[in-house]
Amino acid sequence: MEKICMMEEIPEREARSFETSEGDNIFITQRDGAFFAYQNLCPHLQVELEFLENQFLDRDQQFIECSTHGALFDVETGLCISGPCQGDSLEKVEIKVHSDGGIYLQD
Ligand code: FES
Repeated sequence: MEKICMMEEIPEREARSFETSEGDNIFITQRDGAFFAYQNLCPHLQVELEFLENQFLDRDQQFIECSTHGALFDVETGLCISGPCQGDSLEKVEIKVHSDGGIYLQD
């Protein structure tokens, strides 16, 4: 099982991007103590979501936001709730937090 990072590297309502050993560009964010991971790819034009490093959330840190056209995505589900790809979803990456405090990709 591939370890991505430690829990403390991703504070509540922040996000960080990572590259997996298979070359996937993903990001992880924390909300209410739970961690959510998605492929860093906007379903609108298949581009990366962020312009600035690790800036995946909107100004209020409420939703995931695409920097290109401002689509907003629900943190827990990845569903686009506003913007040109409304109704589409980010591609979820299954992760698991282990007792060592590490966040791992689920096989
Ligand atoms: S590319 Fe993300 S909203 Fe257009």
